[in-house]
Amino acid sequence: MHDFNYKDKELYCEDVSIAKIAEDIGTPFYLYSQKTLTNHFKNFDEAFSAIPHIVCFAVKANPNISVLKLFANEGGGADIVSGGELFRALKAGVPAEKIVYAGVGKTNNEIRAALYAGILMFNVESSEELIRIDEISGRIGIKARIALRVNPDIDPKTHPYISTGLKKNKFGIPIEEALESYQTAMRLTNVEIVGIHKHIGSQLTEISPFVDALKRILRLADNLKKEGINIKYIDVGGGLGITYKDEEPPAPKELAKAIVPLIKGKKRDYTLILEPGRVLAGNAGILVTRVLYQKKSGRKNFVIVDAGMNDLIRPSLYSAYHNIIPVRKKPIKKFKADIVGPICESGDFLGKNREIACEQEDLLAVMSAGAYGSSMSSNYNSRPLIAEVMVKGRDYHIIRKRQDYEDIIIKEEVPSFLR
Ligand code: LLP
Repeated sequence: MHDFNYKDKELYCEDVSIAKIAEDIGTPFYLYSQKTLTNHFKNFDEAFSAIPHIVCFAVKANPNISVLKLFANEGGGADIVSGGELFRALKAGVPAEKIVYAGVGKTNNEIRAALYAGILMFNVESSEELIRIDEISGRIGIKARIALRVNPDIDPKTHPYISTGLKKNKFGIPIEEALESYQTAMRLTNVEIVGIHKHIGSQLTEISPFVDALKRILRLADNLKKEGINIKYIDVGGGLGITYKDEEPPAPKELAKAIVPLIKGKKRDYTLILEPGRVLAGNAGILVTRVLYQKKSGRKNFVIVDAGMNDLIRPSLYSAYHNIIPVRKKPIKKFKADIVGPICESGDFLGKNREIACEQEDLLAVMSAGAYGSSMSSNYNSRPLIAEVMVKGRDYHIIRKRQDYEDIIIKEEVPSFLR
């Protein structure tokens, strides 16, 4: 479900030739399809239309302001984890009353900024954070709306680095302690309890962990009600997976079919908050890179491209698979090669043992790179952050310029003793 397709033998994004963009702006660059992003949002949003809900895009997946604005224009909110993400979301025009704020290490300044902005709620991850928020709220005279992020101890069956809902993970408050924490929150004068939050992990390809976790959370909500604590929002986090290779994750409507009945018609008068990241942006973006050289080392072939692990770290960090395809299909023989970047690390690869048909100067498309691609990139090896481009129909728009070398060093200063 995306809009990157071959026309004849050439890869297009919607109605724009990718080779033409590369010719105009150089490589490497991230490329997003407006149509795919919009369709993904609508499809997700409509799946939950039977109950009151807010789709809060997980900004960390793709924080480009244009991407955030696109979702905001469709009625979306934002799930943020830092002051920087708050700044971006507000800049993009996301209404503060649709912003939820998670993260285990919120600083005083970040809490203050979110209170002044008037966000929908803080997803509080520890008792100490709860006390801190209460103190700051009291000091500045703005009541904080809060949910407690509860760790339901459910195995999401995904990569250990992106699983978050197990006791051994650093996130949230253990479910057995949640009732007590809510009672503590009740006694605080500057916070208003409005919700429960959970997020168990990312790239989930099965429905059952979502259902099991939600059932636990709803049981907690029922118990809170008995204690006179009435909440309005059930925030189920994000985590729905996508197809990178041959995964068959449930569609949003299948997920909705499994979880909506747990709320609707059960006297559970809640507004559902959803925090999808990857499922909205992942397959709506690609990384376009050019082949610099090819070489052989013993029996191994290497295709060296101009994008590296600083641009897309997922393969190096999680052994993640991203399909890599030629932008122009050529009638040449395929061979097996590692597709590697220019960085001085053996872990700098985009794909290993891939069947590929390409030559020097050819363009390659690294697929499914719209989520946790650009957002996790860095200046390692003093490489400028690359351009980001969005296609709409027959036109393309640069939504982030490529950095130059001056941009990289702009905040650096040489102390007087070195001058
Ligand atoms: N909500 C919370 C509280 C989260 O921590 C996350 C992701 C999301 C929502 C969105 O999850 P999604 O729908 O995108 O799965 N860098 C890793 C993924 C880390 C996810 C962190 N939290 C990767 O490249 O796979």
